Amino acid sequence: MDKTKTVYIETYGCQMNVADSEVVLSILSSAGYVRTPELSRADVILVNTCAVRENAEQRVYGRLGDFKFYKKGNPAVIVGVLGCMAERLRKDLMQSESSVDLVIGPDEYRRLPELITNAFEGEKGIAVRLSRVENYDDILPLRTDGLSAWVSVMRGCDKFCTFCVVPFTRGRERSRSLTSVVREVQELAARGFKEVTLLGQNVNSYLDDDGDRDFADLLASVARVDETLRVRFTTSHPQDVSPKLIGTIARHDNICNYIHLPVQSGSDRILRLMNRTYTADHYLRLVETIKKTIPDVSLSTDIIAGFPTETEQDHAMTLELLKAVEYDGAFTFKYSPRENTKAWQMGDDVPEQVKIDRLNQIIDLQREVSNRKNRTLIGSTVEVLVEGESKKSPDDFCGRTDTNRMVVFPKAQTVAGDYAYVRIERANSATLFGSVIARSHKSETRLAANE
Ligand code: 5AD
Ligand code: SF4
Repeated sequence: MDKTKTVYIETYGCQMNVADSEVVLSILSSAGYVRTPELSRADVILVNTCAVRENAEQRVYGRLGDFKFYKKGNPAVIVGVLGCMAERLRKDLMQSESSVDLVIGPDEYRRLPELITNAFEGEKGIAVRLSRVENYDDILPLRTDGLSAWVSVMRGCDKFCTFCVVPFTRGRERSRSLTSVVREVQELAARGFKEVTLLGQNVNSYLDDDGDRDFADLLASVARVDETLRVRFTTSHPQDVSPKLIGTIARHDNICNYIHLPVQSGSDRILRLMNRTYTADHYLRLVETIKKTIPDVSLSTDIIAGFPTETEQDHAMTLELLKAVEYDGAFTFKYSPRENTKAWQMGDDVPEQVKIDRLNQIIDLQREVSNRKNRTLIGSTVEVLVEGESKKSPDDFCGRTDTNRMVVFPKAQTVAGDYAYVRIERANSATLFGSVIARSHKSETRLAANE
């Protein structure tokens, strides 16, 4: 390369994509590229995309429209589409969007340097082969220093929920080796990171390449790296939450007492049509075991409103389940039909306005539950990892509890990266407000270690 080339990357969708973009930047940095946060300085523009719902794709199309316009004034710039949309739409993407030079699926990132070089010479490139083995195990993601890091531990999904494109866009499940994940976490702890989130589309079906260490073993090994490092993980399929995993979370102080456990629906009929492999009753029993074993656990979920054939009665069952579990948070979506999935063939018969009404009822109910649960914490003291300035008030810091609740408090006494005890004075459905009582002994350990 004559002059150092710069790459600008935008990431859409889930945390897995955020982690993948760091892998992409690492691959490109080894090939001599430098990252730029400014579009106007970029020789290469990459968009890492999500295909899980129609509106995610629409946003990316909007962005590609912007880049098309930008390319008129800067014809030498290369535009590449990465990730799930690349995998799903393949050649069509290049045909429908003349601004696109490269289309590269999630398992082909190692080929980026070669394909970009060819693109500079005028050759458009497409690479969308899915792999049964690619896990980028040997690539250390390029991360900016910070407190919290995403660590991808497995890729792909074999669950084939009927509404979901992920098994088609990300391919079969495969895991990284336990040794390499632990080594990466050790490096992160040494660099000053205070929190890692182990990522996988279906993280609890992790299986080390030797075939006998499961996700609970991985979590325990990561937790042992450094007791002041918080360990989180996402996303868990209810089918693979074993008693061993629940016990491991309960036993280790630094494994956060927070599980994102998508239920999708409260109706057995809909769950069957979704191929979720559990009934509402199974799920509730699992929640009961989790709550018994991890007493102050916090749970969140994903819900889809308006899946094909969903009736008012099915919807009412979802509301009932939300009331029974009392989640701390819920991510709620309108059903979005995705071509080539099984649910696509079921039609999309719930009218848009009905989907919106059901979604709003779910959101309102969850807000009420979150509000009530958060208010019970008024007067108590929680331990918070101080993340930095609150977005809404420059005089305050914000941070999260181990149960993933956002806490806002005046800046005095702490710095970002500390653990602090905060006494809660006020609460709404999204945030707790309080004041710092003391720095936690974990911060002192850190200071002492730095001296
Ligand atoms: N329509 C709506 N929501 C979907 N999700 C996945 N596929 C679809 C779809 N076709 C939601 C699920 C999943 C979350 C990541 O996205 O709730 O858990
Ligand atoms: Fe999609 Fe289901 Fe796999 Fe989650 S578990 S990625 S919803 S197929």
